[in-house]
Amino acid sequence: MAQFEMKCIECGKAHDMSRPAYACAACGNLLEIKLDDRESKERLQKSGFKSRPLSVWKYRELIPVDPKTEPVSISEGGTPLVRCSRLGADYGIKSLYIKFDGTNPTGSFKDRGMTVGITKAKELGMKTVTCASTGNTSASLAAYAGRAGLKCVVLIPEGKVALGKLAQAMMHGALVVSVRGNFDQALELVMKSSVELGMYVLNSVNPFRIEGQKTAAFEVCDQLGGKPPEHLYIPVGNGGNSAAYWKGFAEYESLGLTSAHPIIRGIQAEGAAPVAKMFATGASELVPVQKPDTVATAIRIGNPANWKKTVRALKESGGGARTVSDKDILEAQKVMAKREGIFAEPAGAAAFAGLLRDLEEGIVDKSASIVCVSTGHGLKDPDIAVANSVRPKTIDARLDALKELLEGSG
Ligand code: F0G
Repeated sequence: MAQFEMKCIECGKAHDMSRPAYACAACGNLLEIKLDDRESKERLQKSGFKSRPLSVWKYRELIPVDPKTEPVSISEGGTPLVRCSRLGADYGIKSLYIKFDGTNPTGSFKDRGMTVGITKAKELGMKTVTCASTGNTSASLAAYAGRAGLKCVVLIPEGKVALGKLAQAMMHGALVVSVRGNFDQALELVMKSSVELGMYVLNSVNPFRIEGQKTAAFEVCDQLGGKPPEHLYIPVGNGGNSAAYWKGFAEYESLGLTSAHPIIRGIQAEGAAPVAKMFATGASELVPVQKPDTVATAIRIGNPANWKKTVRALKESGGGARTVSDKDILEAQKVMAKREGIFAEPAGAAAFAGLLRDLEEGIVDKSASIVCVSTGHGLKDPDIAVANSVRPKTIDARLDALKELLEGSG
């Protein structure tokens, strides 16, 4: 049997991987890549992958691209799993880690998916790539498309993209289109354009993106000495990354590389929380939020395209989803920066904010090993950081003025 197959998540229909596809031709649900364990084990055994340095392509035997294809890469993955002893002590947690994926080449986890997605776009012979984005996907896609020499068109919600992300998409040479509407409307337009205009979509509905992103879970296991954490906290916007992490943990377990998996908690901002609402109400269908709003603009999404995948993933892991307020997010962002030196954008602090709320409510064991995923770098959104920090004090260039200021500041 082939090592990889692309199948519908709902009806299981197999689809041709050598043609661009995002949804099942029979029932319209999303597609996913399925991995054959026996073939994969054989390839891994021959590869000696364990001794390679940490990176997305360390795991290339588990990534569905032709072994002969040269990846379009800027050294993505291999991000730090930071042991947070100070924050751990502050909140009484024994083993707390932050997976800082904001240290990827363009400053977010999107690069893991994009190196694979763009490599696939080249294999498929695509000339133009596109996405709708709250910012990070557009920055990442623009960078990788530039490196691959592909034309890039990104659609962003007007006025709601953080400054750093906008600057990136523009610098990397994408055609940046500002859409009157929110992310959900921009994504609808992108999906239509893929058919009508022949552009390859690199949103997380693209199953190859998920294949790159699942490597973050492999890395976490490897960084913890071959043992997954007991709990994993992760922000949920469109639901692609949480599904990708679960896929990674589940694959590692079924390949015999680990013998357990974490309980995954998906964290959403209160004003954009349709997935968390499903868990709170026990509903089996998503009810989209019409006017999503949150300070964490990266996850300002009301109709997550991957909701079925992420709900399934969170349930299979034994976890669920919850909300945090914008205030919770900004406080978490500040303590991560102040106490551990980890500067995350608001969405990249949402997971830790979710953990703090779970701790308050006594629903997580403080002696367990816990990983919070920090998805994007704080420099992406300088406006929020400056607006929520103490302004610099201005003094004359004299020693007594500095001395006076220091004495006054305690
Ligand atoms: N964190 C950050 C920093 C993000 O940029 C995103 C998504 C998420 C979390 C949520 O991940 O959508 O896979 O559940 N950003 C997308 C974008 C939507 O366009 O950049 P998800």
